[in-house]
Amino acid sequence: MIHTEAIEKAKSHFARLLEEQLLRVERMKAGEDWVDYSKLAPLIIGVVGGDGIGPYITEQAVRVLKYVLADEIAAGKIELRDIPGLDIESRVAAMKALPEGVLAALKECHVILKGPLTTPKKGDKWPNLESANVSMRRELDLFANVRPVKVPEKGIDWIFYRENTEGEYVLGSNGLLVTEDLAVDFKVITSPGAERIVRLAFEYARKNGIKRVSAVTKANVIKTTDGKFLETAKRVAKQYPEIAFDDWFVDIMAAKLVDEKRRKEFRVIVLPNLYGDILTDEAAEFQGGVGTAGSANIGKRYAMFEAIHGSAPRMVDEGRAIYADPASMMRASVMLLRHIGYVSQATKMESALDICGQFERKVVLTGRSDGATGAQFADYVLKTLQDPNLESRAKSYAKL
Ligand code: IPM
Ligand code: MG
Repeated sequence: MIHTEAIEKAKSHFARLLEEQLLRVERMKAGEDWVDYSKLAPLIIGVVGGDGIGPYITEQAVRVLKYVLADEIAAGKIELRDIPGLDIESRVAAMKALPEGVLAALKECHVILKGPLTTPKKGDKWPNLESANVSMRRELDLFANVRPVKVPEKGIDWIFYRENTEGEYVLGSNGLLVTEDLAVDFKVITSPGAERIVRLAFEYARKNGIKRVSAVTKANVIKTTDGKFLETAKRVAKQYPEIAFDDWFVDIMAAKLVDEKRRKEFRVIVLPNLYGDILTDEAAEFQGGVGTAGSANIGKRYAMFEAIHGSAPRMVDEGRAIYADPASMMRASVMLLRHIGYVSQATKMESALDICGQFERKVVLTGRSDGATGAQFADYVLKTLQDPNLESRAKSYAKL
């Protein structure tokens, strides 16, 4: 065999990956408890501005967050802490997706608000480092990527529970170039990994009185891993008899999301990592684009909240960063507030965002100089927040 050496090398590489994954399975099985945010004093919110438009839109979201949390910050109950060192230049200087000092600083926080981070890819000007997003989700074990999409006038009210630590992503930087002509990547699904995301989706449905959960796979083709995900979903579903369960293949689900009659029926959608990545961009488009969507990355110990779009380097190159829409980071902040139990502050901020971004739209961003700046939009949100009749105003709009 002419390729004996290449195959032997591949085998030992594969063996090492399997050992790591089996250890991860053991850690998941050992489990840990959910952190109780009400017991933390101060509760530390780490803020990562990110790359490209990231620092611009993060700054505007932080202005609003500081306003709604003014009392708690003054009382020392909450601390907002800047975490530098995750911009692409610093990552490249350290030649690490998540430089150690930054990871340690992140671990001292309880929750994180994060702007978009540049993900290097083969062929661009950066060394091909792993995505810092993917690395952070894995290192902090943020297994649930929760992405709501709402378009009330179209009857859309979806919440995606995307598995966030496995699938094609977990070994995405550990594929094998066996020979110059043979490239192999790996997809990993584990029983505890699938179970915890499916369970979280069902728990959400149960707590919120939602009567349907849909799983998405491609188990007809990707039989072993997607097969396990689907089988796990079916097993967990039996423990929630009051909730209807159905499953879809990812291709037809991508189509059904544009089917105006059928799509209203979907409510909670649970799916492996890559399908979740793709369908949530598609779904966000109905809501006004990825710029409008926030996303929560939830683990038992840490949680991170972010925009679902990228860092838009072109906007920065063309001098348009100040016109970038901060709504995604503000939506992410709402999810953060709700997650740490600051529900009334979250509701207020969400009402203001609905009014400013969806209903009234007195300040409109276009991403260019013919529209408003992110700072002007934040001013509008801050002014709206000062209205004592905020909630009733938002409700009356929602009824229209
Ligand atoms: C997302 C992004 C990331 C992902 C990228 C930046 C690695 O697209 O959060 O959806 O693929 O998960
Ligand atoms: Mg994505």
